[in-house]
Amino acid sequence: MEKRVVFPPNFLWGTATSAHQVEGDTLNDWTEWEKNGGSKHLSGKACNHWNLKRFQEDVERMKVLGLNAYRMGVEWSRVMPKPGVIEQGVLNQYRQMLMILQQAGISTMVTLHHFTNPTWFVKSGDWTKTSLEPFYAYVDATTKTLADNVNYWNTFNEPLIMVRMGYRTGQWPPGKKARIISAFYLRKRLAEAHNEVYKIVKRNTGRPVGLVHNFTSYETAHGWLIERAIAGLQDRIANRWIIEHTKNDFLGVNFYCRQVFNGFRPLPASRLGKRVSDFGWEISPQSLTMVLLGLRRYNLPIYITENGVADAKDKLRADFIREHVQAFRLAMRAGVDVRGYFYWSLLDNFEWAEGYTKRFGLIEVNFETQERRIRPSAYVYRDIIEAGTNS
Ligand code: FCB
Repeated sequence: MEKRVVFPPNFLWGTATSAHQVEGDTLNDWTEWEKNGGSKHLSGKACNHWNLKRFQEDVERMKVLGLNAYRMGVEWSRVMPKPGVIEQGVLNQYRQMLMILQQAGISTMVTLHHFTNPTWFVKSGDWTKTSLEPFYAYVDATTKTLADNVNYWNTFNEPLIMVRMGYRTGQWPPGKKARIISAFYLRKRLAEAHNEVYKIVKRNTGRPVGLVHNFTSYETAHGWLIERAIAGLQDRIANRWIIEHTKNDFLGVNFYCRQVFNGFRPLPASRLGKRVSDFGWEISPQSLTMVLLGLRRYNLPIYITENGVADAKDKLRADFIREHVQAFRLAMRAGVDVRGYFYWSLLDNFEWAEGYTKRFGLIEVNFETQERRIRPSAYVYRDIIEAGTNS
């Protein structure tokens, strides 16, 4: 039977990484945190993606897989190792990396802030107190230098995860626990910072700019009124608040999980579906469709900026990709303007507090030797891209 192509020809089929998780040899608040035992491993050399030769080889692998887009990060602490001091050589190297992608016909999406901060910034206070002028100066210099090489800009990656992990659970730097007031204030400050960054990027590049947010599907165990009320409230606080307080040309959707309310309480992960990743995260593709349908009200283009599975044995990944592509295709059919999908991640990489124990890559990395091996599921993704359909 002939396959029906439903994806527009300019649809972005990509993968995503972040600077600290792949570059190696970064020096920031996370490397300090790792040294102090906050993570299972030191990030160290990571995937050595900062090495241009290695980077070039990884771009060759993207070509083998038929990918036409790449979402990567710029590391603030590299660009601005001291307050106010811009390392132009570093920006030039980022430009070279982006040019390698452009020459390979790969569209570029760049994230300006993905969890990590220079140590001097956090020592002078933290996001709740410090002046944000140096951050804006970094954004200004970066976007001026890279204006011609970046198709889409992301301001912050998952700012509310940074707040949750850094100020409520304390599992990530700065390691503060239950700081409800700081956390509340910080949400607002980060939304304002996004709006300021949006203006700077627009002024310097004229390109589309969007926030990347972690969207959770809030669902109910029985459909009871109380469950629906709580799920709806959670949706407003955790999904919608930040979108409604920020200016965006598109929405960056990171999707990993759902939360199901059983009466007043969310069900523990162990009582959700049977298919779980190495992280213990349930696989629930239909929840991606629900999240996307909920975003239709904003009438903005959507890029799925992250979606992936920790699966060292590569047993789940092929179906995971097939089913999530199917899930966003359903949303597209219902009128949601999805314009791209970035699988997390191109490579196995440094997974924050979990160190190197969680493997999300389409490409397996041996962190001792830096050898790469394309996993079988990556070819399934390639075939989906080639066919333009997964039916
Ligand atoms: C997201 C992060 C990304 C990666 C994935 C697994 O929350 O943005 O850096 O760690 O989770």
